[in-house]
Amino acid sequence: SNLDTLYRQVIMDHYKNPRNRGELDENDALTINMNNPSCGDRIQLHLQVENDQVVDAKFTGEGCSISLSSASMMTDTVKGKSIEEALEISGIFSEMVQGKEYDDEKYDLGDIEALQGVTKFPARIKCATLAWKAMEKGLDE
Ligand code: FES
Ligand code: FES
Repeated sequence: SNLDTLYRQVIMDHYKNPRNRGELDENDALTINMNNPSCGDRIQLHLQVENDQVVDAKFTGEGCSISLSSASMMTDTVKGKSIEEALEISGIFSEMVQGKEYDDEKYDLGDIEALQGVTKFPARIKCATLAWKAMEKGLDE
């Protein structure tokens, strides 16, 4: 459908022109490593948190178009959010990629809804959630 085509374009745009690719100074930021055991792909996420707010987020790593585009979208999404908001959006994203009903009204989900097509490819759900799991792990600490 046209929507599938649009979503594919959004994913490829994030894959080819990743937002927030890079590193943050370890003195200011948490570093979280996360890999997808089923394929070996890995990302390294850097989160700068001040006063319960994610003030900056960057990532490096190797992976497929789904995992890297998702990392790009995730970092864009959580920047400026409180820890609580970032974790809540991660929960919404997780429900979305599992094909469950999800709340699309509380937050402006922006580009991340482009990844809802992964529900048709269960093996790729882990690709889509890789960066989000890293973010959750970092914020839980
Ligand atoms: Fe192709 Fe992960 S790189 S499925
Ligand atoms: Fe490895 Fe997608 S195939 S993260």
